[in-house]
Amino acid sequence: MSKKATLEIDGNKYEFPIIEGTEKELGIDIKTLRSATGGITTIDPGYKNTGSCESGITFLDGEKGILRYRGYSIEELAEKADFLEVAYLLIFGELPTAEQLDKFDKDIKEESHVDEDMKRILDGFPKSAHPMGVLSSLTSALIAFNPGSVDVDSEEAMYNAIVKIMAKFPVLAAWTMRKRKSLPLDYGDNALGYVENLHKMMFSRPNKTYEANKIVNDALDKLLILHADHEQNCSTSTVRIVGSSHAGLFASLSAGISALWGPLHGGANQAVIEMLEAIKEDGGDTAKYIAKAKDKEDSFRLMGFGHRVYKNFDPRAKIIKASAEEVLGDLGIEDPVLDIAKGLAKVALEDEYFVKRKLYPNVDFYSGIIYRALGIPTEMFTVMFALGRLPGWIAQWREMRLRKEPIGRPRQIYIGETYRPFKSVSER
Ligand code: CMC
Repeated sequence: MSKKATLEIDGNKYEFPIIEGTEKELGIDIKTLRSATGGITTIDPGYKNTGSCESGITFLDGEKGILRYRGYSIEELAEKADFLEVAYLLIFGELPTAEQLDKFDKDIKEESHVDEDMKRILDGFPKSAHPMGVLSSLTSALIAFNPGSVDVDSEEAMYNAIVKIMAKFPVLAAWTMRKRKSLPLDYGDNALGYVENLHKMMFSRPNKTYEANKIVNDALDKLLILHADHEQNCSTSTVRIVGSSHAGLFASLSAGISALWGPLHGGANQAVIEMLEAIKEDGGDTAKYIAKAKDKEDSFRLMGFGHRVYKNFDPRAKIIKASAEEVLGDLGIEDPVLDIAKGLAKVALEDEYFVKRKLYPNVDFYSGIIYRALGIPTEMFTVMFALGRLPGWIAQWREMRLRKEPIGRPRQIYIGETYRPFKSVSER
């Protein structure tokens, strides 16, 4: 028998169906709440208890530390798949056959140029501009060069838009870094794989033959996979809600990039390294910073710690920690910041404050250490996150449009002034 929830307000009882997901998650379906109760609404700041949609893309269990894309575990995908395969899986629902993967790769390569006029837009930014702001603007500017909204009822139109953005986004991301470094823009080399080409576009020098490094590319590939989707997080919800007004894919993605930028979300990877550096400069006293994080009078938070959903461990952080040690070892790099990070994590994981609140290292805690080892500048860390998250955002946008979801428009409880008559300036 299907489960039901009963709500009682002033002696009146209302029944609501309980829906069950394929992983046995339960959700009270309150779609009829307002019409049944005469306008009573729910209030849930930060949507801590609110499911915004039904989705078949990513499953995560925060208590057990499980993360799966389309049913495949993150551990297996990080070990066995490459980023383009994972992108295809997320967006289209199944792992691609060799033929489908080949076509996807070729179609992306076919679109991997950006209109030359985009360079003039990039030119307009000061060198000091943060790459996330530039990337969001350039993604938005792409609309002007690819006008017309995607016909979501046409599989072909949707596929073409997806391939376009998968192709052009890494070019734009790499350009944001080259601009800061005063390097000539690079279009990469279509003979290279997706991730290798991204690396070339970021690091090639005009007077030097680009040489790929397998350790670096494998590490990048893994990082992109680990960031590829994370169900209804802040930036993904932004992409879905912007797209729900039938704004185009690129416009929705541009908004998602802005949401990701914040230090409580993707911007945490930059904030973590800056925090670890500051601790190092301050003599490496981790206890002092743990005390600051616990002090309610102090706004300092331990960046890279805590998660809205994971209350046991973040499986991505586990993989990245192991990967950080491996990559640093393979590249022969000793980074004192890794020792500070491990020390900080050890103290925090044993401290009652963090234990009680179930605060664990998250994906961003160790990722910056690998990015640094790969030579990626700190202000580019969140751009790397965006590059990884791109297929997730696309998949979620596509799902939202195909499911014909209504426009996202939450309610509120008004707490301002009640009616008051207007007073002319002389009366105020
Ligand atoms: N350092 C110190 N205290 C913390 C931290 C932290 N990093 N995170 C949470 N708390 C405390 C918080 O003060 C609160 O304490 P109390 O119950 O006494 O008021 C309690 O733990 C619950 O925190 P919350 O802010 O209500 O939890 P939330 O689910 O709203 O926030 C979070 C989740 C990730 C925004 C938060 O843990 C945080 O700010 N972490 C640091 C930033 C960070 O690493 N962000 C990356 C998240 S993972 C990647 C991504 O999504 O982009």
